[in-house]
Amino acid sequence: MQALGFFFYVGLIFTFYISSFSIALTKIQYPVSRRGLTTSRQKDPDPDPDHLLDDIKVEVDPSLKFDNPRLKKAYCAFQEWKKAIISDPLNMTVNWVGPDVCSYYGVGCVEALDDKNIMTVAVVDLNFGDISGQLVPHLGLLTDLGILHLHSNRFCGVVPKTLSNLQLLFELDLSSNRFSGPFPSPVLALSSLRFLDIRFNEFEGALPPALFDMDVDAIVVNNNRFYSHLPKNMGNSPASILVLSNNKFSGCIPRSIGRMQNLEQVSFANNRLTGCLPDELGLPKFIILLDVSKNYFMGPVPKSLDRLKMIEKLDFSSNQLTGKVHDSVCSLPALWNMTITNNFFNEIGGECEKLIEDTLVVQYRDNCFSRKPNQKHQKDCLPVLTRPVDCKTIGCQPRDPTILAHIKRKAAKPPPPPPPTKPTLLSNTPIVTPSTPQPPPVSSSTPVVSPTPARIFKNLPPSQYSSPPPPVFQGH
Ligand SMILES: *[C@@H]1O[C@H](CO)[C@@H](O)[C@H](O)[C@H]1NC(C)=O
Ligand SMILES: *[C@@H]1O[C@H](CO)[C@@H](O)[C@H](O)[C@H]1NC(C)=O
Repeated sequence: MQALGFFFYVGLIFTFYISSFSIALTKIQYPVSRRGLTTSRQKDPDPDPDHLLDDIKVEVDPSLKFDNPRLKKAYCAFQEWKKAIISDPLNMTVNWVGPDVCSYYGVGCVEALDDKNIMTVAVVDLNFGDISGQLVPHLGLLTDLGILHLHSNRFCGVVPKTLSNLQLLFELDLSSNRFSGPFPSPVLALSSLRFLDIRFNEFEGALPPALFDMDVDAIVVNNNRFYSHLPKNMGNSPASILVLSNNKFSGCIPRSIGRMQNLEQVSFANNRLTGCLPDELGLPKFIILLDVSKNYFMGPVPKSLDRLKMIEKLDFSSNQLTGKVHDSVCSLPALWNMTITNNFFNEIGGECEKLIEDTLVVQYRDNCFSRKPNQKHQKDCLPVLTRPVDCKTIGCQPRDPTILAHIKRKAAKPPPPPPPTKPTLLSNTPIVTPSTPQPPPVSSSTPVVSPTPARIFKNLPPSQYSSPPPPVFQGH
């Protein structure tokens, strides 16, 4: 039963990726698949915390006529939101007047899940609106909302508590805005949420452990100001996409990552993570992309990585990794691009060498290989190579004073300016949206459209993620 439920949701996500993608393409082409919405209702949404809305008065001009009370509440929400919008250069909210909220730009209505006879607001999509303003508590009145897309706007401030009322919301994209403060905790109460994208904002502090106990398929939080250790329960997450890059996370990669059996793409890039790479990294067997670059990882590449039969791309660059690059890793069947630049590797397997000449792209400069060009100076290699770390005892603190010094130097530098109009998950690799027939051109003026479950690199065939729903769905 549990398993069946799971497939249900996966199917749901696909349904909605497709439907919401068509929204992104055509802007106003609704409706969202009714099948998806109907099935999501079977999940018995939690009894909603309506008390949060007690303070919100729904007062509207009595002369306005609404088809049903929920549209009246929606009207109230949109009008209050409009008041909190300071600038709307593309005139997206100009037609947000009058009682017909379903005709508002960016708003989509479908039949209510619990009552086929009434229409309710299911989608709000203001991607690329360039709108500045704030979210208002009244948004909690949109209790039938399934999709909220606000990518590439200038919304600021905090996410209102009342958002936790949106118990049918399964896609939340707040990426490329100016939200700040701690991780938006109302998100943690969204029991239907499957897709969370808050990258390119100014959220700070810790990621709450509860995030990883949610049934969310994509967790995309890169390019914020998160710091602290990664929660130990990270491995509880059923996510297939986890993007933590370009924050300030420290400590080790939690060993629980070995339990993430759905994981396909994971990026830890450009944080302050340390310790040895855990053996458990070899356990999530569907990993396609693993990026640990630009951290302070030490010790060898775990031998267990030779179990990642699906891996296409590995990036270990700019760490303090040592030892041998093993043949068993180089010859992983799907691997075609491995970056080991700027580490302290000093040995490479014979099979690796052959593959490098043949099919495998390996960037290996700035290491300690004795017979390769563009390597580190021996005086830089020796101190590290003569003091090999013992992964059993090294823990999660960068103990080595030279490494500490290095961290301080690096920390003192201002972080690279986040290009808000170019949300890439890795610093120089474009994202490919799923269900897109072709990857969006990644120029500075064309950011990614949500839902963007983090196609981390463009050479990944889009079919990997947007494949049809599992067989359970056939015949529905
Ligand atoms: C928005 O509306 C204003 C006032 O009607 C107009 O001057 C401006 O050109 C419009 N902007 C766009 C992008 O359509
Ligand atoms: C391989 O990956 C690295 C690091 O992500 C990237 O810089 C490089 O361009 C990739 N190589 C190819 C041929 O795509």
